[in-house]
Amino acid sequence: MHYFIGTLAATLPLAVAIPYGLTPRASKTGCTSLSFGNFSWNVEAFTYTAGYQFTTPSHQVSSGSVQFNLTNPAVLEKVTCSADSTWLTDFFYGNINYNCQAAAGSTTKTSFSFSRPSGELNINQTWTCNDEDPRYPVTFRGYGTVNLTLDCKETNYQNPDWHQGETYSDRRITCAPVTLPLKPHEQTAVA
Ligand SMILES: *[C@@H]1O[C@H](CO)[C@@H](O)[C@H](O)[C@H]1NC(C)=O
Ligand SMILES: *[C@@H]1O[C@H](CO)[C@@H](O)[C@H](O)[C@H]1NC(C)=O
Ligand SMILES: *[C@@H]1O[C@H](CO)[C@@H](O)[C@H](O)[C@H]1NC(C)=O
Ligand SMILES: *[C@@H]1O[C@H](CO)[C@@H](O)[C@H](O)[C@H]1NC(C)=O
Repeated sequence: MHYFIGTLAATLPLAVAIPYGLTPRASKTGCTSLSFGNFSWNVEAFTYTAGYQFTTPSHQVSSGSVQFNLTNPAVLEKVTCSADSTWLTDFFYGNINYNCQAAAGSTTKTSFSFSRPSGELNINQTWTCNDEDPRYPVTFRGYGTVNLTLDCKETNYQNPDWHQGETYSDRRITCAPVTLPLKPHEQTAVA
């Protein structure tokens, strides 16, 4: 069995040689070879929404949110990523790493950052394969970046005859969900 490792980072830190040629016996058959192969995640239904509401002419209640799922075809796992922010005016600036939620018992760790001004989405994920030799699980770490071009619509409401207790104005931005494969620009493996 040969692994195609040409696309991996040149500094692949292999602490222990991967045991080649063993028959996969764990349930995640192919996990290791899929991870070493032409690996890519799938970013599913990335959505950005924002609302800028004024409850009075001077009191603003605004927030933005980001949501998507990320699937890893090697471990057959889907993690859920979401974040909310009230940091005016674009809410996401690429400077905060948010953790994604994996299923209970999962060892997969995922974080992301997003910048609304540039559309840049960064993803880091650590996952483990033990299908080759359960005594030597292989831990992979992938780093991915993509500039998303979001197709957004905006609505604006302005109360024509505002009274205390009513909404003064409401501006909403909703973007069409984006689904796309994302290949790590860097990937490491440690056995
Ligand atoms: C690698 O995967 C991508 C996305 O799934 C696909 O478009 C591409 O053709 C594949 N490349 C090879 C060499 O298999
Ligand atoms: C993410 O996956 C969950 C579970 O399958 C699903 O309920 C949810 O709608 C998905 N979210 C997105 C943004 O696709
Ligand atoms: C991903 O990892 C790199 C290197 O450790 C770090 O600089 C970056 O902030 C991380 N990004 C996310 C989204 O976790
Ligand atoms: C994203 O855009 C920035 C600047 O517009 C550029 O420097 C960067 O290379 C792009 N990244 C990708 C992954 O295309």
